[in-house]
Amino acid sequence: MKQEHAEVIEHQPIQGGYNLLVMHAPGIAPDVRPGQFVHVQVPHLNECVLRRPFSVFKTEGQRLAILYKDVGKGTRTLGNLRPGEGLNLIGPLGRGFPALQEGLYPVLVAGGYGMAALYQTARLLPVKGTAFFGGRTGGDILCVSEFENLGWDVRITTEDGSLGQAGRVTDALDPWMKNELGSREPELFACGPTGMLNAVADRALEQGWTAWISMDTNMGCGVGACLTCVVKVHDGRGGWSWARSCREGPVFECRELFREPANVTNRKSMP
Ligand SMILES: Cc1cc2nc3c(=O)[nH]c(=O)nc-3n(C[C@H](O)[C@H](O)[C@H](O)COP(=O)(O)OP(=O)(O)OC[C@H]3O[C@@H](n4cnc5c(N)ncnc54)[C@H](O)[C@@H]3O)c2cc1C
Ligand code: FES
Repeated sequence: MKQEHAEVIEHQPIQGGYNLLVMHAPGIAPDVRPGQFVHVQVPHLNECVLRRPFSVFKTEGQRLAILYKDVGKGTRTLGNLRPGEGLNLIGPLGRGFPALQEGLYPVLVAGGYGMAALYQTARLLPVKGTAFFGGRTGGDILCVSEFENLGWDVRITTEDGSLGQAGRVTDALDPWMKNELGSREPELFACGPTGMLNAVADRALEQGWTAWISMDTNMGCGVGACLTCVVKVHDGRGGWSWARSCREGPVFECRELFREPANVTNRKSMP
């Protein structure tokens, strides 16, 4: 983990309120593993002391890219950054997605920025499997050609039916598991909204599949000190304990997570 003053190389809107931010970050980019994130100090956001966490979308040599959506004051202010300007990053942070287990078939499930967060995983997994992308509308479906170019079979669902199959991501996932998976055993890698993650975990727990879930919790320090990001996990003795999403996560195997409504974060604007 390093702290670095990165320089903006490219910054442009992509679609559906998402922006691509590419930075020169030679101290951090080469060390990023799939599913890790960077904690970004948003410049010119004087009244807000906290950094904002963003999954690393791509790294190429000393370049590091994030794909982020404008959802509030931090991300809106980030949108003003121009090429040549600098911003302070801490990273790479967290425990990302692991390597695929031998003989298993990889299945990605993503909603929202989860498509960006899973790209490095999709790139590095030795077997290219099936990726399920879900969104409210077509504009929420990101990076399809990038995944297809890597050899992934991408299945799209949108709630308004404007792209792919109408419905939720599970409306495509469930019949595929039943009719097309065949004798293969899946290993799932998921990132997206909490409801979607719960749906993936439910299915994996029911069937005994391995499912890696990237938890989207609010974060303060990002480095394990403040406990803003804790989630409940099984303690191995029949009870539960807290785990820090920024250090022990954000990726957890679904059997590690202690399932109860307390795991569903009530989001508030960060100070
Ligand atoms: C590990 C991790 C990786 C992330 N990766 C990405 C990414 O690659 N791309 C991306 O666009 N976003 C990502 N996020 C979410 C991103 O951190 C938030 O959208 C951002 O911090 C919001 O800051 P803000 O100041 O604009 O919003 P705020 O003003 O703090 O909040 C505005 C609105 O956004 C909601 N919000 C706040 N934090 C989050 C959050 N963590 N997730 C969803 N909604 C939130 C608030 O409830 C509020 O309604 C990630 C979050 C985590 C924990
Ligand atoms: S964000 Fe501070 S401990 Fe995780």
